Amino acid sequence: MIFDTHSHYDDKAFDKDQEEVLGLAHEAGVGLIVDPGCDAESSEAAIALAERFDFVYAAVGCHPEELASCSEEAYARIAELARHPKCVAIGEIGLDYYWDDTHKEEQKALFRRQIQLALELCKPIIVHDREAHGDCMEIVRDYPELRGVFHCYSGSAEMAKELLKRGWYLGFDGPVTYKNARKTIEVLEICPLDRMLIETDSPYLSPVPLRGKRNDSRNLRYVIEKIAEVRGERPERIEQITWENGKRLFGIE
Ligand code: NI
Repeated sequence: MIFDTHSHYDDKAFDKDQEEVLGLAHEAGVGLIVDPGCDAESSEAAIALAERFDFVYAAVGCHPEELASCSEEAYARIAELARHPKCVAIGEIGLDYYWDDTHKEEQKALFRRQIQLALELCKPIIVHDREAHGDCMEIVRDYPELRGVFHCYSGSAEMAKELLKRGWYLGFDGPVTYKNARKTIEVLEICPLDRMLIETDSPYLSPVPLRGKRNDSRNLRYVIEKIAEVRGERPERIEQITWENGKRLFGIE
């Protein structure tokens, strides 16, 4: 079975056919999905989705791009949703200097605050790190007991080695199938199989040959095939091991 550990089915791109797509994905062998929130509203939507579909779980959190929307009231709402039995992680949270490099201190403060929440609730985190590798690592090093996944991993092989040593997981998405994926392929080559997660980040990041189209969990087979090719494994083994990895990290029986 396939575990899509990062997919935004609460996104408006699925407004018209969310139920249908989830049904088709489930039929196609997608047995588990984690839908991460990006602000209070989408965290709430992710929890609502997890309540409706037993194979869907939620993560809640405030994405760095949504920094401005994270009022005290919104934060309190997220902290409350985090206690829901189907909330398996705090995310997606982190730093994004591609989108905005003028509020770095505010982004870092919000990241740390949500890390504290995760530690308090003994939950892993889902990290969004875009062009902020150095600062993400600096923060993560401050919390040796913290665990989680660097979602859509885009750092170097060297940084990956440090994260792996610290017990982290790495998330791989559609971009592993892109022509310019050399750096990510290097990471795929050194990442132990038992620390890999597969993700769609749907509706975004469709793999080749569907690049540019709306993404959904069924397309993970292209990501699985690519990982299998890089590692010289059978796709079935990659599917199985990433399924187990996701269940272990997110504490799903
Ligand atoms: Ni995402």
